[in-house]
Amino acid sequence: MPVITNINDLKKIHKRRTPKMFYDYCESGSWTEQTFRENTSDFEKIYLRQRVAIDMSGRSTKTQMIGQDVSMPVALAPVGLTGMQHADGEIKAAKAAEKFGVPYTLSTMSICSIEDVAEHTQKPFWLQVYTLKDDDFMQRLFDRAEAAKCSAAVITVDLQLLGQRHMDLKNGLSAPPKLTVKSVANMMTKAQWGLGMLGTKRRFFGNIVGHAKGVENASSLSTWTSEAFDQSLDWARIKQFRKMWKGPLIIKGIMDARDAKEALNVGADAIIVSNHGGRQLDGALSSIRALPAILDAVGDKIEVHIDSGIRSGQDVLKAMAMGAKGTYIGRAYVYGLGAMGEAGVTKALEVIHKELDTSMALCGKRDINDVDRDILMIPKSFEGDWQD
Ligand code: GLV
Repeated sequence: MPVITNINDLKKIHKRRTPKMFYDYCESGSWTEQTFRENTSDFEKIYLRQRVAIDMSGRSTKTQMIGQDVSMPVALAPVGLTGMQHADGEIKAAKAAEKFGVPYTLSTMSICSIEDVAEHTQKPFWLQVYTLKDDDFMQRLFDRAEAAKCSAAVITVDLQLLGQRHMDLKNGLSAPPKLTVKSVANMMTKAQWGLGMLGTKRRFFGNIVGHAKGVENASSLSTWTSEAFDQSLDWARIKQFRKMWKGPLIIKGIMDARDAKEALNVGADAIIVSNHGGRQLDGALSSIRALPAILDAVGDKIEVHIDSGIRSGQDVLKAMAMGAKGTYIGRAYVYGLGAMGEAGVTKALEVIHKELDTSMALCGKRDINDVDRDILMIPKSFEGDWQD
């Protein structure tokens, strides 16, 4: 086993050990992937200001997200089909997160169900919610989350329909995978993955199969999103969900100040500036470039979090210094999961924590709650100079 020192090391092992169909699902954006690429490359355009001869002992990355204690401001983002990257993937990721002291967000499109994850963990996790047409399903989903003691609901508002990801179409992505000559040949080269999958009963969309009515083909992501997802979703409907769910509410997928104000109006506790990891509207700005305008519009009234493009502790530091109150990693922990299961997710969190802690110290700060724009050097053109 090579010495793992960064997230890219985990990504290489993930690629080797996981069937192509699922690795590609993780590692792709929609259409040209411009937004997917810029989500990461735009972080590199922001520089950190080195300070010296400042006492850097006794550092802390502890803070709060929506009033809940976190050991660092990095939640695990909802990721569909996590249980296909590694057997029982959602349970393993949730366990690693709770041991590390960061929130875990379970996707509606998970393989392990809400009840299953609750049964195998001690601390409350967050539930990401996709908005389906079926009202009964929605009410039951919130009731199930309450029964499982979920400590937040994260409603995703940028996926009424699925952005086109070329690789998923070419690979015939499904859960469980369809057995074609090509997919079987590929899976046979992934022994560890295959043994794990043979050893678990969790191979279907656990929150959907047996719970949602009228979904003909619940194994194909693209078919069931187009059959079941509510394309008419609007803010009035989100207000209804606010009534169905009494706990903390986070709205995920905000890229425009006007939408941030709408989220504020429905009574959300936080928003996530997110372009869905570049998987939905290709050609949209990167999340980090969209963040400042949203902070200007609502940053003093609501907690603003960010995801998309975060692959290192330095990215976390930059987002926090810009004014975000929390960040999320998706691919960065999935690489770890695909590489080494629970230990790989822990490794991803350790890598990110170390990078965050060391970089914060070299910027002359000892407490993550004290970092601000003073540690950043942001190019004048960063936010864009757009025509009206
Ligand atoms: C689902 O959320 C996806 O991006 O595939």
